Amino acid sequence: MRGIILSGGSATRLRPCTKITSKQLLPIYNRPMIYYPLNTLIKAGIKEILIIVAPERAGDYLNLLGSGKEFGVKFTYEIQDKPRGLAEAFIIGENFIDQENVTMILGDNIFEDDLKDEIMSFEKGGRIFAKEVPDPERFGVVDFDANGKAISIEEKPKQPKSNYCVTGLYIYDHRVVEVAKNIKPSDRGEIEITDVNNWFLQEGELDVKKIKGEWIDAGTFDSLLKAQNFAKDKMQEKMVI
Ligand code: G1P
Repeated sequence: MRGIILSGGSATRLRPCTKITSKQLLPIYNRPMIYYPLNTLIKAGIKEILIIVAPERAGDYLNLLGSGKEFGVKFTYEIQDKPRGLAEAFIIGENFIDQENVTMILGDNIFEDDLKDEIMSFEKGGRIFAKEVPDPERFGVVDFDANGKAISIEEKPKQPKSNYCVTGLYIYDHRVVEVAKNIKPSDRGEIEITDVNNWFLQEGELDVKKIKGEWIDAGTFDSLLKAQNFAKDKMQEKMVI
């Protein structure tokens, strides 16, 4: 299993804080934000991790994270020139993924749950994680049938069919590279991860697991504040880095 942390973007919603550094390097209590998703991958036993960053911030990441030796893993870095969507990570990461399975996590996502078993038991297809939230229209939304089987996934629907949103940790086999290459950009000009998920769903190969623990996408000032307090109160004992 290979790991990717997607840590690109310009985070205009967090200006002026992100004028001088990357969103994913802002502090969440006592650690840079990216330590939390990195912790999730390291705890799952992933040893080879690709970190995708915006060009103007690449030096900051190298200074902070280095080779990975300090963390007992190996880092590779790639540049995402422009924020062209989450699924672009698999195109950028084509050589890195090669024929392996891959877990991608977003650099601003904080998971309370230890997802080691779900990551390491993965064999084929796709596996994603859904969380019940009060504001599903901000996210990818997954709808389930009466048996708990996922039947649809929609990106930021105005009228969400459920309260379950798709969180920022995605596991796929290597076919994801070709799937991503064939996706046409959406109206917002991005190669949507929701389209990748729908491809695996239509193939009958998407496993959607509901998570119980807290999950925070720290991309706004309010969620950043929530993440700070949550990290202080609940995450400290879960960190191995
Ligand atoms: C992205 C995805 C969305 C997902 C969310 C999780 O949203 O497009 O499906 O629910 O990440 O954080 P974005 O951050 O691009 O608004």
